[in-house]
Amino acid sequence: MFFQGFILHLHPRKVAAETIRFSLSFGLGGISASLVLLLFLSGILQLLSYNPDVAFAYDSVKTMYRDNSLSGWVRNIHFWSGNLLVIVTMLHCCRVFFTGAIDPRRGKNWYIGLLLLGLVFFANFSGYLLPWDQLAYWAVTIFTSMLGYLPFWGENIVQLFRGGSEVGQTTLSVFYGIHIGVLPFLFTILLVYHFWLVRKAGGLVRRKVNGHNAGDFVPVIPNLLVREAAVGLAVISSVLVFSAMVDAPLDDIANPSMSPNPAKAAWFFLGFQELLMHLHPTYVIFVLPSIFFITLVTLPFWPGAVSAPGYWFDGKGGGKVVLLSCFTGIVTTFSFILIDDTIQRSSETVTDWLSRGLLPLLGLLFVTIVCYFLLTRTLKLSRARTVMAFFTFIITTLVCLTFTGIWLRGPGMELTVLF
Ligand code: HEM
Repeated sequence: MFFQGFILHLHPRKVAAETIRFSLSFGLGGISASLVLLLFLSGILQLLSYNPDVAFAYDSVKTMYRDNSLSGWVRNIHFWSGNLLVIVTMLHCCRVFFTGAIDPRRGKNWYIGLLLLGLVFFANFSGYLLPWDQLAYWAVTIFTSMLGYLPFWGENIVQLFRGGSEVGQTTLSVFYGIHIGVLPFLFTILLVYHFWLVRKAGGLVRRKVNGHNAGDFVPVIPNLLVREAAVGLAVISSVLVFSAMVDAPLDDIANPSMSPNPAKAAWFFLGFQELLMHLHPTYVIFVLPSIFFITLVTLPFWPGAVSAPGYWFDGKGGGKVVLLSCFTGIVTTFSFILIDDTIQRSSETVTDWLSRGLLPLLGLLFVTIVCYFLLTRTLKLSRARTVMAFFTFIITTLVCLTFTGIWLRGPGMELTVLF
């Protein structure tokens, strides 16, 4: 009875049958929630052995693996869940967008979701430093230096994060406090609100027939409950088994006087690091992310920009638009990387804000406007499908840049496939 009451606080008594189709959401929100649960539990357990002092942090992590003890497994669970969460929340965000689940009723949840996405990145990033190994030290050094390119307060923000001019004990203490105190608190509040907003909107997004929601309703218990339990258990058991087999990486102890070659940012920031090799830092760190963020935040307000609710890719024919944009994104990104790398090798390129910043930005703006008119006027795509094409293009570009940063850059950050 208590259990039933608890479930009915989270869910309404009945939900529309079509919203519990696995192919509508692929359970991505539920998978994210299961990973957050694993992160909280494994994080609390890690507090028993981790020591946030630069003199002991590395050893406290290393000893977790001594004699095959359970604490190594707990660290693996925390590490793999955190990394998987980055991928799954990104996919969840894409599914929400591609199924038109950002109509005015759900717009607020889109913002809460964007905040949660920010928290997921921040949690991963702040946790990255804690093992105090070479990977952690240099990834955090690189990223915090990137923040220095933010206009006006760049240097102050770097100092704030590092707690001084270099990454050291104060940085570790600040990151530790944020990671185990501030972020879990914010996560809890935002997640409760996120779930409540889903419930308030009457469940997941639904198709409309003649302007009205269609379809039958079914009781939440057992229909939705069984599905949620199956997804949750499948995710949790997969992560537990995987973590028993594959250890989380741990490099040598941090050495501030010897940077590894190549020195790379954390994998989820490698797209930015890759872009920094081609464009002026202020544009990569501030201008482009601001444009992208403002676009995402204002999206629910753009008239006609949200695709048909409840249908993947705006219904029939939309899939082709997405595939084509995806293909264009792959070709454009890799061609850009190759051409720019070749130009940089063969000439003394000027890396000022004009030739590597403003001009490429104006070029991008021009191409965007031309493409917009081409898609809406010549190909007669609706505004929603045009927005979908741009969104797909940007996400594909980000994935390709990250892919290049992770797998195609070797010593000296040279392209390994070419030179
Ligand atoms: C830790 C991160 C997150 C967790 C645990 C989470 C969890 C969930 C869950 C359980 C649902 C309902 C089931 C489902 O859609 O699969 C949901 C729905 C939703 N989420 Fe998230 N979410 C997270 C991040 C995000 C992000 C990054 C966005 C978008 C930027 C987002 C936007 C939404 C929206 C708009 C809905 C309602 C979808 C609909 O009505 O169809 N969420 N979320």
